[in-house]
Amino acid sequence: MRILLYTGKGGVGKTSISAATAVRCAELGYRTAVLSTDPAHSLGDSFDRRIGSQMVELAPNLWGQEIDLLSQMDQYWGTVQSYLNALFMWQGMDSLVAEETAVLPGMEELASLMQITSLAESGRFDVIIIDAAPTGSTLQLLSFPDIARWYIEKIFPFQRKTIQLARPMVKRMTDMPLPDDEIFDSIEELVSFLERMSKLLSDGRVSSMRVVLNPEKMVVKEAQRAYTYLNLYGYSVDAVICNRVFPRSIADQYFDAWKSAQAQNLELVHECFYPLPILEAPFFEQEVIGIPMLRQMAAAVFGAEAVRGGEGDPTRHYYIGKPQEIFRNGAHYVLSLPLPLVERSEVHLHRSIFDELIIRIGNWKRNVALPMGLARLDIAGAKYEQDRLNIYFKINEATPEISEEELKPNRWESLKARFRRS
Ligand SMILES: Nc1ncnc2c1ncn2[C@@H]1O[C@H](COP(=O)(O)OP(=O)(O)OP(=O)(O)O)[C@@H](O)[C@H]1O
Ligand SMILES: [Mg+2]
Repeated sequence: MRILLYTGKGGVGKTSISAATAVRCAELGYRTAVLSTDPAHSLGDSFDRRIGSQMVELAPNLWGQEIDLLSQMDQYWGTVQSYLNALFMWQGMDSLVAEETAVLPGMEELASLMQITSLAESGRFDVIIIDAAPTGSTLQLLSFPDIARWYIEKIFPFQRKTIQLARPMVKRMTDMPLPDDEIFDSIEELVSFLERMSKLLSDGRVSSMRVVLNPEKMVVKEAQRAYTYLNLYGYSVDAVICNRVFPRSIADQYFDAWKSAQAQNLELVHECFYPLPILEAPFFEQEVIGIPMLRQMAAAVFGAEAVRGGEGDPTRHYYIGKPQEIFRNGAHYVLSLPLPLVERSEVHLHRSIFDELIIRIGNWKRNVALPMGLARLDIAGAKYEQDRLNIYFKINEATPEISEEELKPNRWESLKARFRRS
């Protein structure tokens, strides 16, 4: 099973590339689903037909869906949301405002990622292609359980057990709505869903993120940031798709300036995204609409020859790298992060009380949830080594040997425990 997620700045061609990838995958015989999570859906436009919030068959082996955020949210977040609604109204909020407020930022995107997880777990598809909105906030939320915890604890600053004990007393003192078992069950389920989703999307064997861009300076700069973020969050980015490249065969003088600007920017793309492969799609003479045009676009991007499992197969791993590693190096444990695009100025490290490591490089900031094994060690320093930032944790005599398990603990466990029935 493969999950391919396309992201990039508005208008660069994410939807077209997603649809083109889907057409080729289906034609190679993969059971393919293509989903758009952008509320302003345009997947239907690419296929030149209506695609609704229900999965529809678009061609043999090919299904599409434009995820309807509201019904998704209802399904996954409904119980919790109605409680929040009641709570906010109790606090004197107007019911409409309460309803709006109960929708937390990022929840919409989260709801669509949940739908993807359900589909992935259903076993119905070999490939799931996601035409994603160009924000990274949800991916960030997913890759750091500590961020999810912060979110969830902000809303539910109590544990199930505490509430069970305090309920009779609180009931006598106030008529504030208290979360009941059903709500705790919902949150527990939600957290376990987040955990599965996070595992799925950060597993490079399953999921690859691809950055779509155009050979324009501003677009490349923005894509650069997205790429660094995805790397920082530990997702596997395996390719860059450079769309709307003027064919070199164009002889018209009118395009000369454009062509030379594009050539320069293409060079920039190669410099910025090294060592990722840069796949190119030409600027076509017409819009990319309908299956024949999508097929043509896929041939340009992935190679004219479509061979399942080989060259020209969009599901192959275009690059295999290590987004984040922890290893022992003599008297140190090393947390190694790829930092392909950050200017190498001084590294500032700061530890929060939540066992997080906050890394700051110039304006750059990263928040790493440290595995337990590392959290109790002192930091000896940070070094740029080749294209990685290596953070050294000092092992002293008192340090017990850290087991493999401890280095990769189930970081979601403690969050789930808060809401679990005892
Ligand atoms: N290589 C290309 N040649 C010609 N037209 C293209 C090409 N790529 C995309 N287009 C056209 O450009 C328009 C925008 O493309 P698309 O909808 O795929 O971008 P997007 O990144 O999904 O945009 P949004 O951010 O708004 O969702 C569409 O009309 C599409 O047909
Ligand atoms: Mg789009």
